[in-house]
Amino acid sequence: MKQSILWAAITGSLVIAACAGGPAVSGGGTASTPDADAGTSGAGTGLPCDVAQVLSSKCASCHGSGAQAPSLVTYADLTTGNVADRVLARMQDTASPMPPSYAGTSSAADIATIQAWVTAGKLAGSCGDVDAGPATPAPTTCASNASWTRGNRGSEDMNPGTACLQCHNSSVDGPVTRYMGTAFPALHEKDLCNARAPVGATVEILNAAGTVVDTLPVSPISGNFFSLRTGSAGSYRARVMVNGAKVSEMVGLQTNGDCNTCHTEQGTQGAPGRIIY
Ligand code: HEC
Ligand code: HEC
Ligand code: HEC
Repeated sequence: MKQSILWAAITGSLVIAACAGGPAVSGGGTASTPDADAGTSGAGTGLPCDVAQVLSSKCASCHGSGAQAPSLVTYADLTTGNVADRVLARMQDTASPMPPSYAGTSSAADIATIQAWVTAGKLAGSCGDVDAGPATPAPTTCASNASWTRGNRGSEDMNPGTACLQCHNSSVDGPVTRYMGTAFPALHEKDLCNARAPVGATVEILNAAGTVVDTLPVSPISGNFFSLRTGSAGSYRARVMVNGAKVSEMVGLQTNGDCNTCHTEQGTQGAPGRIIY
């Protein structure tokens, strides 16, 4: 409590002048965006990507590093005192919301992301710290030299590498399960390439406490895997196992069960590229 009162006292007047005034006075659509680059990729923040993304898209214009309001960018910022709880409380506060109503709104998904992270124990992430990928696109490969050619004909081996749930969520037919994705032999394998995973490969889903909560068989044809459970993905990590040996592991917590949205050919949101078996 002390801390937030202090914040408001120290930064309140300054912030209101700078933040509220900024957009209003700039005519001609050239509003300056201080710290527009602050944490947009989430790299180096020490936070999981999804949390870093909410902060960078909804809060950083005022709460960026070096910006007017108290910095809400890094893991240290969020885990000092009760800051994370205040963040969640203000995002949910209808009388005094953050972002302030003149500057936008927190979507239900934004709030769910922060809530899941707080509830799971505010664990550190390593968004983008492992290998954000080269600036120029890496050459793509398809080791099997064979690709899925049957369009949207329903099959567990359909459309390897693509964002399964993005499609299934909007489709009347495709099953919507908690986790869906593809494991490949190399980081930059092409969309639709059949991954030909080794027999005995599985993806294990771990909760924030590190307990395995779901085990998904990986198809030896396509490399696709999916959970038979439905409902919210929760806050989870994942690892790929082949016959009991760990091959690769995601250390940061995520909340979107649609693995291939981040594990694209080049990798997005800090992911290095494909999930590797
Ligand atoms: C347009 C500018 C602006 C944006 C965008 C913004 N804030 Fe704020 N924030 C402020 C100002 C001004 C204050 C100080 C006055 C106050 O507390 O209302 C503040 C204070 C806070 C505080 C400290 C006060 C307390 O209640 O403990 C928290 C926490 C906070 N904001 C969270 C957020 C979060 C989380 C977001 C994004 C979801 C966000 N803010 C987006 C301007 C902004
Ligand atoms: C472009 C849209 C699209 C994408 C991307 C997509 N699917 Fe599907 N999927 C569908 C549709 C449509 C169906 C239902 C088709 C049918 O009933 O014939 C389906 C059905 C399925 C089924 C049920 C199979 C059955 O026997 O009925 C599974 C399992 C499945 N998809 C897995 C996946 C996986 C895993 C991925 C990602 C690697 C994926 N899908 C990507 C559209 C898609
Ligand atoms: C919102 C983005 C995002 C989603 C969704 C996501 N990941 Fe990741 N993943 C990352 C990032 C960032 C890294 C690198 C940092 C780390 O390990 O936390 C990573 C790394 C990994 C790694 C280790 C490196 C590698 O490529 O082999 C594995 C394994 C992995 N993820 C599996 C999964 C699985 C399985 C799912 C779905 C159940 C999934 N990921 C969903 C962002 C994501």
